[in-house]
Amino acid sequence: MLKIFLILLIFFSLGSLHPFVVINDLSPEEIWTKTEFVMSEHVGYSGYINVNQTMDANLFYTFWESLDENPNAPVLLWLQGGPGCSSLWGLFKENGPLLIQSDGSLLTNPWTWNNNYAILYIDNPVGAGYSYVTNPKGYVTSESQMSQDLYTALKVFFSKYTKYSTNDFYVFGESYAGKYVPAICYRIHEDGNQLNLKGFGIGDGFSDPIPQVNYFADYSYSTGLIDEKERIDIKLLEADLKLQIENQEWDNCLENFLQILHQISEFTGGINYYDIRRYQPYDSQPITKFLNSQSVKDTLGANADWEDCSTNVQDYLKIDFCKSVKPLVDVLIQSGYKALFYSGQFDLIVNYMGSSDFIEQINWSGKQNWIDSDRIVWKNNDEVVGYVKNYQNLFHIFINKAGHMSPMDQPQNTLDMVSRFINNKPFS
Ligand SMILES: *[C@@H]1O[C@H](CO)[C@@H](O)[C@H](O)[C@H]1NC(C)=O
Ligand SMILES: *[C@@H]1O[C@H](CO)[C@@H](O)[C@H](O)[C@H]1NC(C)=O
Repeated sequence: MLKIFLILLIFFSLGSLHPFVVINDLSPEEIWTKTEFVMSEHVGYSGYINVNQTMDANLFYTFWESLDENPNAPVLLWLQGGPGCSSLWGLFKENGPLLIQSDGSLLTNPWTWNNNYAILYIDNPVGAGYSYVTNPKGYVTSESQMSQDLYTALKVFFSKYTKYSTNDFYVFGESYAGKYVPAICYRIHEDGNQLNLKGFGIGDGFSDPIPQVNYFADYSYSTGLIDEKERIDIKLLEADLKLQIENQEWDNCLENFLQILHQISEFTGGINYYDIRRYQPYDSQPITKFLNSQSVKDTLGANADWEDCSTNVQDYLKIDFCKSVKPLVDVLIQSGYKALFYSGQFDLIVNYMGSSDFIEQINWSGKQNWIDSDRIVWKNNDEVVGYVKNYQNLFHIFINKAGHMSPMDQPQNTLDMVSRFINNKPFS
């Protein structure tokens, strides 16, 4: 039982932002906090869920009810990758209702996934984004620990936001969340699916390293970024890395993975391997400045410094980096959960080729039919925007003119994809 105390009511302007209204609502157990706020006329909720009291490990969440006010709207969880990157990047740069512009101002996102879905963004694992942990032993070093903390958070969340506890639930994530998404879905499944999980979506996700580290050379060569001689050099590095993974030598796996990308970067004069149309890196300054301003922290009830990606979290997860979650994906797909994998055309780091190879090897009863199924042309507003391979509950979608972060590059088409996937609407 919660009593709502009106602790704080602040109006202020920050640059070009609209006024914020803050209402704090703290539970007596201190296991969680809830702040209701208004940001640029959008109501949101945020706070911390203590997932391990011994370690003082706290996951930060922010929750946005569906803009169409449908009480039965499916709830989507969004998880960023890294490892160690904040899911608020996805909120404010990709699919959330408000996007941070390069000048630091907020812009309403007409293609937000929030139009018809409630979205829960969690800074995961502890130590990422605004999430924090006091005892260093609380940092996670495996997908099993990650999903234990995250599952605790989800159970607390749905026990507090009870009106959402019977809605359909989907887990979405990007990049290294290709590990997190199957790991949390598997834990939910294993515990009798008490959260009404219907399916999951993984964008440019790293889930199964052996096939996925095998295509840096081929992708770069086929797009003309490297020549045949350079291709042979990269292939040798890939073969070394594959051997290490087969021998379960986890310690230097991340370094060697990054070494391949550095080599490609050198050959290409610094290509952005998240989007080969770019040479410059993404600018994280505006969002970093925004989320570290005291006024925004007060609004969101955040009490940690924010960085887009935590090297600390990444260091603790280094030994997890090259481990595969394919066995979990196998079980989830065989069990009938809807699975959406999508790949941006211009993403090198987790490219379409590697993901296709991994998906083709998923061990389920539809495997051969999957391989034999014809890919179809996906049109949105009469324009070809991608290609869809589907058999039963498994989808792999190629997104035209997108890099690693499809919702940022192709917001309208990515929203169309998510809507069709959730509503079981055909793509042609
Ligand atoms: C808290 O974290 C420690 C260290 O990882 C772990 O041994 C323990 O099981 C965790 N407790 C809970 C309740 O998850
Ligand atoms: C595929 O799944 C079946 C059924 O779960 C299992 O018996 C078999 O060992 C799996 N094969 C591989 C290669 O994982």
